[in-house]
Amino acid sequence: MSVFPVTRLRRFRRTAALRALVRETRLDLDDLVYPLFACPGEGVETPLEGLPGIVQRSVDRLCEEAAALRQLGVGAVLLFGIPEEKDEAGSEAYDEDGIVQRALRALREEVPELVLVTDVCLCEYTSHGHCGVVSDGEVLNDLSLELLAKTAASHAEAGVDAVAPSDMMDGRVGAIRAVLDSEGFERVPIVSYAAKYASAFYGPFREAAGSAPAFGDRRGYQMDPANTREALRECELDLGEGADALMIKPALSSLDVIAAARARFEVPIFAYNVSGEYAMVKAAAAQGWLDERQAALESLTAIKRAGADVIVSYWAKELAQWL
Ligand code: PBG
Repeated sequence: MSVFPVTRLRRFRRTAALRALVRETRLDLDDLVYPLFACPGEGVETPLEGLPGIVQRSVDRLCEEAAALRQLGVGAVLLFGIPEEKDEAGSEAYDEDGIVQRALRALREEVPELVLVTDVCLCEYTSHGHCGVVSDGEVLNDLSLELLAKTAASHAEAGVDAVAPSDMMDGRVGAIRAVLDSEGFERVPIVSYAAKYASAFYGPFREAAGSAPAFGDRRGYQMDPANTREALRECELDLGEGADALMIKPALSSLDVIAAARARFEVPIFAYNVSGEYAMVKAAAAQGWLDERQAALESLTAIKRAGADVIVSYWAKELAQWL
């Protein structure tokens, strides 16, 4: 093996064109998913404080935004709903006239080519803010499955392209698959948030969705950020229950997990570049401490380099303008 001075790795770094020629990882808008927040009302657009540039919209405004996104080249969105009212059982999550169900029907009609993915969870809809049914201060696993499956089926009924359960209850993928299939939605894929860590980086999202738990935290169901082997077991189990794709979340603090999942499983790997990861860069950029565009491109590229096929990112819209 020849070494310096024969070997000089700087030779291919000399010009932008040379660097582009040998670049190993590229960002493609087709691989990006943009989160959208639907809220009640009409003509409503509420900018979200902790998520600069991200806006909650009533269904009419959401349709306008979705058309604009499609125009820009954004191919897929991940829908979240802010309900009219929250209750103990999170009933608006699976109400056929719930916020996400109404948004789906309208978007399906207005922008038929846009891929519509929904986050399937109860935490935005429950008064206590937990992702499942609560009894005596405990989040009950098996009782929650029924409601999650009902939620997924109601999304399918309203025209969703893929459902993404994010609650981290055991057995939810199997429960959702069974109900989807029995109701005639065997064509709808499940993107499982298989390895979702109990992370501080969801802070701005919870502020936006009003879904911070009223008591305790999510460590009883979301994963301990210290564990990788357990993440791979989660992935394996979800695939066994019928998951069509796996999601790892957060993305930047789990690059090793993304790489391990990529190496082990032959299914599409999604990574969620979460609210806190986005907000940190936005905040630093607002202070003039770093260049937002460079930092965003570097973050997204690193997530792809680690092995993600698809990235859920709040930068997807801006990326469409940058690329
Ligand atoms: C719902 C859900 C959350 C996120 C996606 N789906 C919040 C949570 O689990 O607390 C986080 C998204 C983000 O931070 O961007 N369970």
